[in-house]
Amino acid sequence: MSPTMIPILRALIYIASFVTVVSAQESSTGTASNLTTAAVRSASSSACVAIGRALGSLIVESSGSEYTATAQGPWSLFNSLDQPTCIVYPRTASHVQVAMKSIFHFGSHYAVQAGAHSAVVGGQQWRLISFAHMNSVSYSPVTGTVTVLPGVHWGDAMAAIEPYASDIGMGLLLGGGISFISPLDGFVLVTGELVTATATNTYSDLFRALKGGANRFGIVTRYELYPAHTGTKDEKSWFGGIVVYPGLSSVAVSNASARYIREVTDPKAGLIVILNTINLTAVDANTVYLFYNGAELPQSIFGDFLSIPSTSQSLSPLSYFDITNLISGNDRGNGKQFGAASWVGDENTFLSGYNHLINFTRTFEAELLASYMIISPVPRSQWTAAPRTRGGNSIGDPGVSYAAINFDLIYPAGVTTVPKDANTGFELLLSQTPPSPGVPLYINECHGSQNVYKTYPAFAALEKTYAKYDPSRFNIEHTAGPIGL
Ligand SMILES: *[C@@H]1O[C@H](CO)[C@@H](O)[C@H](O)[C@H]1NC(C)=O
Ligand SMILES: *[C@@H]1O[C@H](CO)[C@@H](O)[C@H](O)[C@H]1NC(C)=O
Ligand SMILES: *[C@@H]1O[C@H](CO)[C@@H](O)[C@H](O)[C@H]1NC(C)=O
Ligand SMILES: *[C@@H]1O[C@H](CO)[C@@H](O)[C@H](O)[C@H]1NC(C)=O
Repeated sequence: MSPTMIPILRALIYIASFVTVVSAQESSTGTASNLTTAAVRSASSSACVAIGRALGSLIVESSGSEYTATAQGPWSLFNSLDQPTCIVYPRTASHVQVAMKSIFHFGSHYAVQAGAHSAVVGGQQWRLISFAHMNSVSYSPVTGTVTVLPGVHWGDAMAAIEPYASDIGMGLLLGGGISFISPLDGFVLVTGELVTATATNTYSDLFRALKGGANRFGIVTRYELYPAHTGTKDEKSWFGGIVVYPGLSSVAVSNASARYIREVTDPKAGLIVILNTINLTAVDANTVYLFYNGAELPQSIFGDFLSIPSTSQSLSPLSYFDITNLISGNDRGNGKQFGAASWVGDENTFLSGYNHLINFTRTFEAELLASYMIISPVPRSQWTAAPRTRGGNSIGDPGVSYAAINFDLIYPAGVTTVPKDANTGFELLLSQTPPSPGVPLYINECHGSQNVYKTYPAFAALEKTYAKYDPSRFNIEHTAGPIGL
């Protein structure tokens, strides 16, 4: 069988048999949150000197073209202007270990960059471990697994087998891997030394925590994935594409989305809805991606969307590769800001959130380039499809189908920090649009002020696991990331 790898296809990819991780075991000399700026700078300088001595100037850089390219490379402009004290380019897991030990010893702040696709603001400062050189992908026909190093972008991983392009990095796995027709997969970890975590070994609690735990538990240096076999790029086993709707159809599209979330259980169906909330009269305001793993779009599933007056439709037989190419996101040069919501399918909840976003957008229109409400279904089957033997995740089963909502802001080129007033307004918006009771937020799309972990049905277990693997709370104190652990 040809190993066409589609790591983000709903319910088809299951996590790894294991992941390899690094973290620091020595005791910390202080907690950065209580240190002065000067002390933080001094800690990161000391760590950089020590790592440079151990690994050499090829691996540890504080200037030069590669350093500059990495520092300026992130997808969100808001993360591309910091000047890390140094950047470490590990080639092996043991390099990561050396770096992490010094970071821990000196109590330095740090950040890890895999695909540089985060919209979480901050965290590139002081120092940064870049996985730019740990980017290989290999497939083993013997185990049927794909081994992926953390610097690989999804697109490159697939290109290892099929020509293709996309721009989502491996770090996304740590958020649980929910994406368009995607599911729940993910992994990774932390703790003093290099460990291998599997679904069944002594680190199974860590293995579970990594899936949904984001960067709090350590640094993953290798992923081993069970690939989904989805056919070659020429096998057009899907049907669908893009329908564009005018602003006049926005409420109808929002209603159709709520109903889809509530009623559709067929795992072969895929949907992404993008509602433009900055130009409500645009003829091309709203974009909907509709897919079905079959010869046509069934009326019973997509009938509402197909009957709403549209501006244009581009629907045809597609391979999975065609689909992933339709949905790639490689735009750079602008600051981005995300906020998350999670709603069960209810028309009024959707409309209320949409109207709150319009109010926010209107208020801060002069400061924004674009503003969207993006709706992605997370059907219940994504939580129940993975066999128990694959180790589970740290999020927990919410017991319902729901929509992951991304409030997605784009700032004009040249705006290099989030305007304070807009940020305050955005936080108000998020408080006005809370998750439905018992439904988890998607960590990869959250705002820094959102306590995502607390929305996990399995939060109590995650908290315990964090206390076990990072008892001094080093990662909470020294690296930017989700609050709440
Ligand atoms: C930082 O300082 C505050 C207030 O002095 C204290 O409550 C907190 O425990 C300190 N944090 C750490 C991690 O030491
Ligand atoms: C959308 O749903 C709301 C709430 O059920 C309803 O009042 C409204 O008429 C619907 N509008 C459209 C255009 O479907
Ligand atoms: C909004 O959309 C309309 C219709 O597509 C277009 O004519 C207008 O220029 C747009 N306005 C802005 C501010 O982009
Ligand atoms: C609209 O947004 C502004 C700015 O954040 C806020 O002050 C106001 O309360 C909002 N109005 C409503 C009805 O939410």
